[in-house]
Amino acid sequence: MDFKTEIAIALAKTADSDSDDILKAIEVPKASMGDYAFPCFRLAKTFRKAPPLIAKELGEKMSLPSCVERAEVSGGYINFFINKGAFAKAILENIITKKDCCIKTDMGKGETVCIDYSSPNIAKPFHIGHLRSTVIGNSLCRIYDCLGYKTVGINHLGDWGTQFGKLISAYKHWGSREEVENKGIDELTRLYVKFHKEAEADPSLDDEARAWLVKMQDKDEEALSLWKWFVDISMKEFSRVYDMLNIEFDSYAGESFYNDKMQAVVEEIKSKGILKESDGAQVVDLEEYNMPPCLILRRDGGTLYPTRDITAALYRKKTYNFVKCLYVTAIDQKLHFAQWFKVLELMGYSWAADELVHIPFGLVNLGAAGKLSTRTGHVVLMEDVLREAVEKTKVIISEKNPDLENRDETARQVGIGAVIFDNMYNGRIKNIAFDWKKILNFEGETGPYVQYTHARACSLLRKADYDFENMDTEGIDWNVLSDDASSELIKALGDLPERVVEAAEKYEPYIISRGLIEICQGFNRFYRDNPVVSSEGETKKARLALVYAAKTVIKEGLYLLGIEAPERM
Ligand code: ARG
Repeated sequence: MDFKTEIAIALAKTADSDSDDILKAIEVPKASMGDYAFPCFRLAKTFRKAPPLIAKELGEKMSLPSCVERAEVSGGYINFFINKGAFAKAILENIITKKDCCIKTDMGKGETVCIDYSSPNIAKPFHIGHLRSTVIGNSLCRIYDCLGYKTVGINHLGDWGTQFGKLISAYKHWGSREEVENKGIDELTRLYVKFHKEAEADPSLDDEARAWLVKMQDKDEEALSLWKWFVDISMKEFSRVYDMLNIEFDSYAGESFYNDKMQAVVEEIKSKGILKESDGAQVVDLEEYNMPPCLILRRDGGTLYPTRDITAALYRKKTYNFVKCLYVTAIDQKLHFAQWFKVLELMGYSWAADELVHIPFGLVNLGAAGKLSTRTGHVVLMEDVLREAVEKTKVIISEKNPDLENRDETARQVGIGAVIFDNMYNGRIKNIAFDWKKILNFEGETGPYVQYTHARACSLLRKADYDFENMDTEGIDWNVLSDDASSELIKALGDLPERVVEAAEKYEPYIISRGLIEICQGFNRFYRDNPVVSSEGETKKARLALVYAAKTVIKEGLYLLGIEAPERM
């Protein structure tokens, strides 16, 4: 039982009220005001007395549970001060003895959450705009996993549509197999751009492109094999980035996967009587909901982005029976999702209203980093950003720790970790001003700072030469950890599991990042005030246990963000 519950039960007994109600009302006050506080205002009606008087009487009458050292009455509040030793024991024992992951719960009861993220477009650059979707989506997968959900990470690849007709046409005119094999997406992009330029002067190219798309739809062998080849070329490049980030998907069912499934859905929309013609196209009118109509079929009968999304959602519901399906894309797609979510609702699928969730995020503003080397001229590629981060980190490590053994591997973990952390240090909606100096600062509120603190803890533990995996927590004198710095660190460690739940509920990984920064700042304060390796006996044992717990929690927190935790740096 946690302390809050113990206090609630003791209070409920004295006040003769419901302990659940009391539990919900207990607050966490500012540090000097105690560890927990109960506001007596809510009892004023029942007791017909002023809250300060209730607080005074209750405070005097109640018998304190053993975890509480003392209670103080202040105005209408009763403030409780937890016994620091008991607090340390409860938090740290739990972290140390859980062999698996100390944050793990079975809250999700094995229910399924689908997470549609990253989802780049074939033959188009995997640019920095996709970076946020990729790292936020991956983090959400890990967070929900940790909370006992079954997660399905889906890469809804943009692998079908008019652009492929254009690309095939361009390739036939100006491309060569060799160039595409050698230069990959760069060359495909060049061809695509050239197509648009040439088509301005010669509109017959557009007809040609349309004809290729029709051939693709009709399963023409040449058209499909070229398409398949473009997909493979692109996937090879995307995979390099996913490998760098340590990301794997459970499904790569992209837009083309729904080609043979859309007809039935269009029929269904029609049969529900909500499809209507507009300028030759088929749309669902959404005026009543203050939105422009949702386009279902083009004038030429071609399907559209929303049609595929509606079909995919129905397929996923049937296949995975999700309790939530999340879509992690930039804020500029907000209307698109709102529109087709509504169409599903109008089709009679009421679950769409709360089970489908768009998880929008703000832009990455390149600012000073606009100087980033760009191969294509106008977009910044994700792979380039990650590589540059690694290179820059190599330089920093060479200065800070020239003898580090695993320099290249560590630079990879730290450089990439820095970029990921920066992407999730603020609420999603906030735009990011990309700034190398800021994200690679080992002392700021950054990924490297957290990783560095972790490595520092590891180094302390190495020096102690003790079998932490099989630590006997029974024999530890937890009262050693009663000083302010230790207590604050322990509190920050104990807070992380709640933060993970909050991060899941709000779809906001930054809540974890902030918790990690708090832990690291707490750790560094603790370490400054309390010698570890040079201390002795009971003191040393307890402090080492705290260092070990901090290391464990930092590593697990970083994992939830998708960041590795090197042991030396
Ligand atoms: N391919 C799209 C893009 O790059 C993102 C797809 C997001 N997922 C979805 N189901 N619509 O903008």
